[in-house]
Amino acid sequence: MTDYKNKVQKILSARISPPLCYLHSFGCQQNVSDGEKILGLLTELGYGITNDATSADMIIYNTCAVRENAELKIYGLIGNLKHLKENNPELIIGICGCMAQQEHVVEKIKKTYKQVDLVFGTFALNELPKLVYNVLTERKLMVDITEYNNEIPEGIPAVRNDKIKTGVPIMYGCNNFCSYCIVPYVRGRERSRKPGAILKEVKELVDAGYKEIMLLGQNVNSYGKTLENPITFSELLRMINNIEGDFKIRFMSPHPKDATKEFIDAIVECDKVCKHLHLPLQSGSNRILDEMNRRYTVEKYMEIIDYARSRIPDFSFSTDIIIGFPNETYEDFKCTLDVMRKVKYDNVFSFIYSKRTGTKAALIDDKTSAEDKGKWMRELLEVQREVSSEFFKRFEGRVLDVLFDSEGKNDNWYTGKSDEFIIVEAKSDEIIIGQRKKVKITKVFNWALQGEIIN
Ligand code: 5AD
Ligand code: SF4
Repeated sequence: MTDYKNKVQKILSARISPPLCYLHSFGCQQNVSDGEKILGLLTELGYGITNDATSADMIIYNTCAVRENAELKIYGLIGNLKHLKENNPELIIGICGCMAQQEHVVEKIKKTYKQVDLVFGTFALNELPKLVYNVLTERKLMVDITEYNNEIPEGIPAVRNDKIKTGVPIMYGCNNFCSYCIVPYVRGRERSRKPGAILKEVKELVDAGYKEIMLLGQNVNSYGKTLENPITFSELLRMINNIEGDFKIRFMSPHPKDATKEFIDAIVECDKVCKHLHLPLQSGSNRILDEMNRRYTVEKYMEIIDYARSRIPDFSFSTDIIIGFPNETYEDFKCTLDVMRKVKYDNVFSFIYSKRTGTKAALIDDKTSAEDKGKWMRELLEVQREVSSEFFKRFEGRVLDVLFDSEGKNDNWYTGKSDEFIIVEAKSDEIIIGQRKKVKITKVFNWALQGEIIN
């Protein structure tokens, strides 16, 4: 591979100025993290980075496949690039990530989107120098969606797009095969990074001044099972918690079937771990959970919630919900609303079911109408608004730890996230971006909080 790296470097260094690359990642944090590595590799090859696609010599869309509308958006964007390519035939257009890992997508790109030069999937990071070399020298479509049975590539440089908080993948792939989900097909089997490599990366980031580390994986609490010397996610959390420095730890996402008391104990006992758990419920109906192959019941899910709240009454929860799984009834849907009222989530991410070719659920003859699904979505949003606006009141007068990361809408206002992962706004005469502050909450909105900085 070094060979290809040298060859590309030689070609690019012969140019008058370094060529520029524009990359946009869609989808989850894991994909964003892959995108940062792709930029790291391209920088090594000699590319500069631009935020302006129209002035780029290479445009890469790092795509998501989780729902159909994510894919439709990408096809629209690729279509729009046609005129850029006509104006600049030297432009290289690349499509990578989860959507690109699917054969039917590659076929469609080959047939319809001739402006595309490069398609590579989620396994091909290490192959990038070779692919770029081939595109530069042969100028014909290069495709690599091989499922490399690779060791996890370590030591790939990352160009991180945030200086305050960042993601660290701890595992790749997924073995769960939830019946609606494309991820196991596009990201392969579960494999964990060695704890030593993770600890080293986190230490380096903390030394570089990062204030928040998000541990990433499709099912983080199944971490470590495939290692030569297996360890649990709880053990990993405790090891990372022992790293010295001023930083906090989050993780995304755990699976309820692997959520044990020991896992909750680790969160509770590690002072750097935020007391917020994003625990995807997907449905509150045991019948639907079974059809989804989720391998837990609502009762088991509630046991975790109740245990966490028995240890910390204020524990904050958020969740993902799918509305309108094939043949879901209104009775099933009402069970989901019941769980939402019981758990009192601070945040709910709800999605209408999207049929994904290749999954088991795609084969079900779905009798539930799109109209009903839309109606249920509106009802769910209304219930969540009521629950969270009521539940948010618990914060009034309390002091929260907030990491500020951006400017607010008005002058001297800043916004950040509390440990509970709730948006908090506050006013300050000094610039406080990148700082953690104690904020006394004075106002409660539906989706955010406002307060005064006390130190
Ligand atoms: N349709 C709708 N939502 C889906 N998700 C995953 N697959 C689908 C699908 N086919 C949702 C789940 C998951 C989140 C990342 O996306 O709720 O937790
Ligand atoms: Fe989208 Fe899932 Fe791929 Fe993340 S892993 S980019 S959510 S399909």
